[in-house]
Amino acid sequence: MTRAERMELLRPQVLACQACGLRPSAHQVVFGEGQPEARVAFVGEGPGAQEDAAGRPFVGPAGQLLDKMLEAMNFRRERDVYILNVVKCRPPGNRAPETSEVNQCLPHLARQLEILDPVIVVLLGSTAVRALIHAEARITRVRGDWVVRDGRWWMPTYHPAALLRNPELKRPVWSDLKRVLDKYRELVDPSHDSPHYPIS
Ligand code: URA
Repeated sequence: MTRAERMELLRPQVLACQACGLRPSAHQVVFGEGQPEARVAFVGEGPGAQEDAAGRPFVGPAGQLLDKMLEAMNFRRERDVYILNVVKCRPPGNRAPETSEVNQCLPHLARQLEILDPVIVVLLGSTAVRALIHAEARITRVRGDWVVRDGRWWMPTYHPAALLRNPELKRPVWSDLKRVLDKYRELVDPSHDSPHYPIS
């Protein structure tokens, strides 16, 4: 079976999940989207209001910024990446998901990563870093440094919503994303170019 087929088999299980208390107040479950054959995955925190309405990840203001970041890397969501969230249902009022909600949802994300088997995973913000790397990690300390684990390269960086609140974070994030491009060229596609970060 292809990765796409395996993801489509998983989808109804995730959509039917009632494991934590988030599902009743959410309009729909946001499974994730992108190219299942992509070698890079991006992991955010959880759906916001616009994602909850659309059923798609990162379509609100933070998503528009993520699209710009992807464009600067010469990545497109439907062609080069897969976009996931730690929790699949919107926490009410845009609060961060609670640890218990993260823990109940984590098997879905783990299964998605197992199927997609990305070489590189970009962790957007503290919730993703704490769920996947270390429960007490501080994003300000760990961002920008590769974590090599389970045969994957994990890059923690700030969440695009944090950049909207504090534009000074754009510079460190771009530095982290350039490291991702270096690694992508090294491990996936040496000819992957970008006008914003040309192959040297
Ligand atoms: N923030 C996230 O973490 N994920 C989304 O899908 C949207 C906003």
